[in-house]
Amino acid sequence: MKITVSTLCRAKTEGRKFSVVSCYDFTNAKLAVSAGIDVLLVGDSAAQFMLGFDSTLPATMDFMVAITTAVNRAAFEKLIIADLPYESCAAGGEKMVTDSRRFIEEAGADVVKIETSSEQFDDLKAVIDAGIPVMPHLGIRPQTGEYKAQGTTAQIAAELIGFAERVYNAGAQMLLLEGIAREVGKLITQKLLFPVISCGSGPDCDGQVLVLPDILNLKDGAMPKFSKSFADIGKASVEAIAEYDRQIKQNVFPDDQHSYHMKPGEMEKLLELIG
Ligand code: KIV
Repeated sequence: MKITVSTLCRAKTEGRKFSVVSCYDFTNAKLAVSAGIDVLLVGDSAAQFMLGFDSTLPATMDFMVAITTAVNRAAFEKLIIADLPYESCAAGGEKMVTDSRRFIEEAGADVVKIETSSEQFDDLKAVIDAGIPVMPHLGIRPQTGEYKAQGTTAQIAAELIGFAERVYNAGAQMLLLEGIAREVGKLITQKLLFPVISCGSGPDCDGQVLVLPDILNLKDGAMPKFSKSFADIGKASVEAIAEYDRQIKQNVFPDDQHSYHMKPGEMEKLLELIG
C-alpha cells in the first residue's frame, strides 16, 4: 500500500519510527525499496554525489525533475520527497511555486522539501497556499554553505522552535531538521503533531534520514559527525571492478560461456560467402 503523509502521522501517534534515505537514481531506489525503507528523498546533494560538484548549488530544476522521476519509477509505493534546488529557492516568488508544482505533476513526487528560514517565510507560504504539500528544511541548510550545528544556545533554539511552530501553523505537512541539537529536535518533535525527520538532529525525532552514499560507504573522505556507514560497499565495489579489470587483461573474461554463437552450419556458409 502507498505510504503517505497520513501513514507517517499514524506512525508518530503510535510511537513507531520511520526510515528515510536520500537517493538519486532508479537502481539505488530499487535497493532501498527492497530494504523496506519507508520514504525516499531525492536530495539536491545529488549535485555532489552524482555530478561531483563541491556543493549542492549547481543542481538544476530540470536535473532534479529527471532524477525524481527515476526514483518515483522505482519506488512509487513509497512517499517520494523532492528537494527544491538552490536556483529555485534563490529566485523565490512565482518560480518557487511553479517549480514545486513541476515536482508533483511531472515527477510524481508527493512532497516538496524546501530549505528555508524566517526571512524566506513568505515564499514558503506561497507554495503551501498553492496547495502543494511542503516539508520545510530547518537548521543546517547546505544551500547557505554553512555547516555549523544549530540550536546549541537557548536563544537560537527558541528561534528555531518558534519558526518550526510558524511553518506548522502555516500548513506545512512535515518537517526536516538538519544538524540541530538533540534536545531541540526532541522538543520540536514533541510539540508539533506532524512528522519530524531528523538529519543529524538526534534519535527523538519521528524519522531519520541519511544519504545513501554514506549508508553504503561509497565515497572518499570524511562524513558529518551524525552520519554512519552500515557496510563497506565502496570497498566491495572497488574489489569487484578490479577483478573485472584483471580478468580482461588476463584474457579470462569473457569466456565461451559469455559469448553468442552462430547457428549450426552458418559458419561454413559464411566462409563461402566471404571467400
Ligand atoms: O540533499 C539531501 O540529500 C538532503 C538530506 C541530507 C536531508 O537535504
